[in-house]
Parts: sequence; structure tokens; C-alpha cells
Amino acid sequence: MTLRKAAISAGVALATLGAAPAFAQQVVKVGVILPMTGPFASTGRQVEAGARLWMAQNGDTVAGKKIEIIVRDDTGSADQTKRLATEMIVNDKVAVLAGFGLTPLALAVGPVATQAKVPAVIMAAGTTTIVNSSPYYARTSFTLSQNTVPMAQWAAKNGIKTVVTLVSDYGPGLDAEKAFKTEFEGKGGKVLDTLRSPLANPEFAPFLQKAKDLKPDALFMVVPSGQGASLMKQVNERELAKAGIKIIGTGDMTDDDQLNSMGDALIGVVTSHNYSAAHDSPENKAYVAAFQKAANMRPNFMSVGGFDGMALIYKALEKTKGDTDGTKLVEAMKGMAWTSPRGPMSIDATTRDITQNVYIREVKKVDGQLWNVEFETMPNVKGDVK
Ligand code: DHB
Repeated sequence: MTLRKAAISAGVALATLGAAPAFAQQVVKVGVILPMTGPFASTGRQVEAGARLWMAQNGDTVAGKKIEIIVRDDTGSADQTKRLATEMIVNDKVAVLAGFGLTPLALAVGPVATQAKVPAVIMAAGTTTIVNSSPYYARTSFTLSQNTVPMAQWAAKNGIKTVVTLVSDYGPGLDAEKAFKTEFEGKGGKVLDTLRSPLANPEFAPFLQKAKDLKPDALFMVVPSGQGASLMKQVNERELAKAGIKIIGTGDMTDDDQLNSMGDALIGVVTSHNYSAAHDSPENKAYVAAFQKAANMRPNFMSVGGFDGMALIYKALEKTKGDTDGTKLVEAMKGMAWTSPRGPMSIDATTRDITQNVYIREVKKVDGQLWNVEFETMPNVKGDVK
């Protein structure tokens, strides 16, 4: 062999080593991107604690591979989410991306995941169409249409004839507004007005006054996790309940993370949602106890997105026998079904979205604490329910 040929073949060998097949990696890195600071830090805190609890309970080895999670803070900025996703793929060589605390943050990751062929597990965001924008998305959180349709059905069945809706003015809120209006009016109800408050620094008072002036039977509200307490404070100050207006919404508003600090005025509020810390099952009792011990807070619906997101990644790796090829991992995620602390759940084989039970709940005081007590179940609601 000539010197030149030898140099070239060494170079080829090096290049081959550098691009070692995904299968040969002994450590599987999961890049978790969340808002850990800023107005949506509670979402980041809950999702991370859920993901870490799954690992604490299930070990850090799957199919002979050691699992390592790297958590990065995007502060709630989509530019940061995108930059971190790219960095973690290129520098950290993560096999899976996960997290994404708000819809715009989740959407920023799609093009990166598609190009790199890396699965992106949505553990928190809820706008219905996100999963359509990359074949590498799968979701373990919820969708707003999924959580809203059962509420509209319940309202129509329970003597509510007129409703005003008030939602955050971006993807999830608009999904909820549309799903509520379509379902409720389809069942003979009337939506008197559709009000929208800005996502950033919302000032709810003028919208609540407008809703009160319209005198609906009920006010249906959707705000992202973390904004429920300030919304409900203003609802109480305006005395909507005293004016005979029933307060209903999705469970984002009566978030278990904040519910206990919202006060007894919340008692009687009816919401629909995919998870309550009061869910009555052995899996959930064990989950709430372990979560409280590990993270020193009550788990909310965001936490199970993190817990089940890690469950999905573990189960997919088991199925591929440790092969971290992104396309094979997403394939393995399709159709996966198991029992979560929230109840039965599965990943739809076509849409890669979550199918789960949605529960109707009422805020009640039990043993001196406020809980979302479930009293009706809509089984196996699809993420893209119309
Ligand atoms: C989204 C964020 C939330 O905190 C929530 O409760 C629902 C939806 C979102 O941005 O998708």
C-alpha cells in the first residue's frame, strides 16, 4: 500500500468510527428541553420531576443501554428551544428529544427533528395539530380538543343553555374555543361570545366584566398551566358565581400545582381533564405518594406527561432491543399502550398522538385540601377528536 493510500484508508476508518452506528452506543442520551425559568417554570419543574421519577422507579438501564437525561432551560423562548435542540443533536448526540412546555416551543423543534431523524416526545404542549408537522413527533401530554369536547357534552347535558368562552389567544386556547363551540352548539346550546386574552402578562378583568355583562349560564375558560391562580382570583373578585354564572373549563385552570392555594371559592368548579392527582387508582396513589416524597409538591397534569414520556422512550427502546435509530424508535412508539397514573393510555398508530380517558371533575374539599374529584369518565378519547 502506498503511503497516500494508507493515509486515506486510516481517514476512512476514523470517519467510520466517528459516525459509529447508533446501535453501538452504550449510553442513550435523552435531551429534555423545558421552561425551567420564566412565567412557565412550573411546567418545567413538574415535567422534569415526572421524568426523573420514572427513571428512579425503573432504573437507568434499558435493553443493555444506560439512559442519561440532559435537561436544558429554554426560558419559554422558541428561539432557545430550537437552538438547544440543534445543539443537543450535534454536540451531545442525543438519541431522543423531549419536553416542550408550550405549543410554540414544541413547534420550533419539528423541522430539527425531521431533518436529523430524531424522535421528539411532546411531554407538555397541547395544540392538536403539532404532531402533524413532523413524522418524528409523539405525544404523552394531551390535546385541548380532547380535553374540551367532554366538557361541552357535559354542559349540554346538565341544563347549561348559554356559554361565554374565554381562552388564551394562541394555539391551545383557539383549539379549545373551536371544540367547545362546535360540540356545544351541535347539542343545541348557544355560545354568546368568544373572548380571548393575551398569552403574555394577561389582564383578565376586562374580559371577565364583559362575560358577566352577557349573563351566560356558564363561563368556559382555558389558560395555560401556571395562570389558573391569577385568573381564578379575578373571577372571585368579580363575583361571577354570585351572579349565577357557573364556572367551567379544562383542568388547566384548576391545576393541581396551584389548586390548594386558590381558596374555597373554587369549590364547585367543574372541569374536564386527562389527569387529576385525586384519580382513584392504585397506580395513581403510588405515583402521588412517590412524587410528593421525591419532589416535595403535588403532581399536576404536566408531571404525568414527563413520567409517561420517559415510559414511552423506555418501552420503545425495549422494543427495538436497544437500537437507537430514530425512525425505528418512532415506529416502535406507534400503537404502544399501557396503564399510567392517569388511567389507560396509548399512542395512536397513525397520528402518534395520545388516546386517553378524559374525566369530568368537581373541586371539592377532602381532608382539608382542595382536589379535582373525578365523577364521570369519557373513555379512550383520541387526540384529534372532532
Ligand atoms: C399548553 C400549555 C399549557 O400550560 C397548558 O396547560 C395547555 C397547553 C400549550 O402551550 O400547548
